[in-house]
Amino acid sequence: MIQIKIISTEETFPIRLEVLRKNIPLPFEFNGDFDSDTIHLGAFKNDKLIAVSSYMKATNKNFEGSHYQLRGMATLTEYQGFGAGKLMLEQAFLILKEKSIDILWCNARIAAVDFYKKQGFQTFGEKFDISFVGEHYMMFKKLNS
Ligand SMILES: CC(C)(COP(=O)(O)OP(=O)(O)OC[C@H]1O[C@@H](n2cnc3c(N)ncnc32)[C@H](O)[C@@H]1OP(=O)(O)O)[C@@H](O)C(=O)NCCC(=O)NCCS
Repeated sequence: MIQIKIISTEETFPIRLEVLRKNIPLPFEFNGDFDSDTIHLGAFKNDKLIAVSSYMKATNKNFEGSHYQLRGMATLTEYQGFGAGKLMLEQAFLILKEKSIDILWCNARIAAVDFYKKQGFQTFGEKFDISFVGEHYMMFKKLNS
């Protein structure tokens, strides 16, 4: 069984590094990582941390209302496809709705776009390039409608 828990900023770092930063010379620490309104979620299987994701207050001029940005969504390769990512997002939707946040948005790697679509996100605008990582779409999900 997979359990979702709030974790510390530092607990996200090893999985971010392994899954998102292999051969990618970009920081694994994000602006806002240590802000008091930032939320980090971890997925645990038999007490082992197998996936992480972070949620930061970040205004996006493309959307109305109040916004959070999803960053650092990553599941260890050997545990991908077992529901950890989906369960973390479901928990995040509940927490952010409770805070009356209207929109959760992210910059999604092309390979992850269909994963986000399955969780109710839509793409916004044209695809764009992020150096060293590749093509992305901005994606968003309305939380309070
Ligand atoms: C994208 C990622 C976070 C998904 O996490 P996960 O724990 O494997 O996802 P889940 O097991 O919760 O998948 C939920 C559903 O999405 C599907 N899915 C997962 N990854 C998918 C992908 N890349 N494309 C399409 N569908 C995907 C699953 O099959 C599952 O479908 P189902 O509900 O019909 O069974 C994970 O594959 C990952 O870490 N990838 C590498 C890093 C990355 O690209 N992160 C996103 C950066 S923007």
